[in-house]
Amino acid sequence: MQRVDLVVASDLAGAVQWVAEHLVSASSAAIDARARCRIAFSGGGTPRDLYDLLATPLWRARVDWEYIDAYLSDERYVPSTDPRANYRMLRESLLDHVLIPVRNVHPVPTGGACLADDAARYEAAIKEDFAEDTASGSAVDRRAIPRFDLILMGLGPDGHTGSLFPGSPAVTMTDRCVAGVEPPDAPTPRITFTPKLINAAADVVVLTAGTLKAGALLRTLAAEGDPTETPSRAIQPTHGSYTIVTDLESCERLDAMPLRDGIVTTRV
Ligand code: 6PG
Repeated sequence: MQRVDLVVASDLAGAVQWVAEHLVSASSAAIDARARCRIAFSGGGTPRDLYDLLATPLWRARVDWEYIDAYLSDERYVPSTDPRANYRMLRESLLDHVLIPVRNVHPVPTGGACLADDAARYEAAIKEDFAEDTASGSAVDRRAIPRFDLILMGLGPDGHTGSLFPGSPAVTMTDRCVAGVEPPDAPTPRITFTPKLINAAADVVVLTAGTLKAGALLRTLAAEGDPTETPSRAIQPTHGSYTIVTDLESCERLDAMPLRDGIVTTRV
């Protein structure tokens, strides 16, 4: 049974602090090993506090941004300058405040011919980037699933993560790493990492908080459940660590039903 580390802070600020420390240590280890760290940042509102913290002088000095490559684990299908764009939120809250080289910032393409084409372009670009890491004159295996050093994800009240929404065919997709989706309840189409790409990562961290997410967290961790109904259940890294960082409010309902095996809880 795959282990999932459940890190419980008193509040969102504590959860954000833990993820910031984790990102510092994970990126340092990756850079020491390979002079590079590829991170996929999550969208939505919750991570904004994390990005604001990482952008502060004390924290931004703790990450070697020159060796960081920044991606997005999902994006709204709008221009990157659109106020709804996750890229714009990430850029304004973090990337504009750190010394990350422009070539290391990888926004999701959203201006192409269509949603499917742009999703395919993003997948191809990611595979090309990762192929550079392994190409030492050898033939590049484009079938290889890129292994992100760290993927940050969120959790919606309905159990969606990234833009993997309940009932979406992307939740059970096995032939693609990136998909274009048109969620019936989301105001815009989306481009999202699929479980195939997420689960290949070395390190997946879900940051979520608040009482509104208590039901989704319970369904995520329940012993029984269907990933097509609760897409966060599709996150099961095959050869990497999986951590859910949350607060006491989100844990309010975890005693309501039997939970899956493999959960290791840490109170911080
Ligand atoms: C998005 C995110 C989405 C988000 C959850 C949680 O583009 O909005 O990809 O999956 O992580 O909806 O959002 P909040 O953190 O704002 O609650």
